[in-house]
Amino acid sequence: MSTDDPSPVNPNPRHIAIIMDGNGRWAQKRFMPRAVGHQAGVKTVRKIVESCANNNIEVLTLFAFSSENWRRPESEVSLLMALFMATLQREIDKLHRNNIRLRFIGDRSAFPEKLQTKMAEGEAQTEHNTALTLVIAANYGGHWDMCQAFQHIAAKITAGELTEQDITEELINQHLSTANLPEPDLFIRTGGEERVSNFMLWQLAYAEMYFTPTLWPDFDQNSLAEAITSFKGRQRRFGHTGEQVLSQSVTP
Ligand code: IPE
Ligand code: IPE
Ligand code: MG
Repeated sequence: MSTDDPSPVNPNPRHIAIIMDGNGRWAQKRFMPRAVGHQAGVKTVRKIVESCANNNIEVLTLFAFSSENWRRPESEVSLLMALFMATLQREIDKLHRNNIRLRFIGDRSAFPEKLQTKMAEGEAQTEHNTALTLVIAANYGGHWDMCQAFQHIAAKITAGELTEQDITEELINQHLSTANLPEPDLFIRTGGEERVSNFMLWQLAYAEMYFTPTLWPDFDQNSLAEAITSFKGRQRRFGHTGEQVLSQSVTP
């Protein structure tokens, strides 16, 4: 994949966050069950992880299962859980060999115990790896993330460890599930819908948004390169004027 552009405005994004959408429609278009689309989606995950690692992206966050996806038919939810487990069993060693650090965000307490154990093992095994950080958002919701952060902060206030004056943006950042990760620079949603679907609501404050009609199983290295090229050509102003951005180095 080439992400070279003759006159890029931005360097590569440090953190790319993706809503992997369109698996079901990809299968339905082929008169196949939605499960086939989810299986095809896992293959895309492999390709995109590899591609991000090769392009020295620091963090890739993938939305795998939302806190709202429990509303799907029981059969689809079970299939997704089984696929999640099988994929972790198959891929964790490979991620580790490639120096990739795995991290999960979301309320994992709702998952089967075996799956929770596997998730914890995967994180522990890859904890000290220094290439790409792969964040899997599973049973994740932006509202959940903020609630859990506020609960932890409130508990510290009750315990006398903090006062309400200590509540700053930075303190909230430190209590979100994404603590210690850079904010997403580039948000990608495949599948044609142009909404955020309760993904990283706080963290996306200044992400560049990129929507593509490409269904997730059809998204590939070239599609990712196109998204990155689009990102690199945009002027990020963070509230400044365009002229200020051109005349000085502007950061959030
Ligand atoms: C995204 O694909 C995968 C998950 C939500 C787990 P969908 O399953 O939402 O696919 P569409 O949107 O129905 O095509
Ligand atoms: C968002 O996709 C969640 C994931 C990709 C995991 P959905 O397909 O569930 O989103 P909505 O329901 O169309 O907003
Ligand atoms: Mg969908």
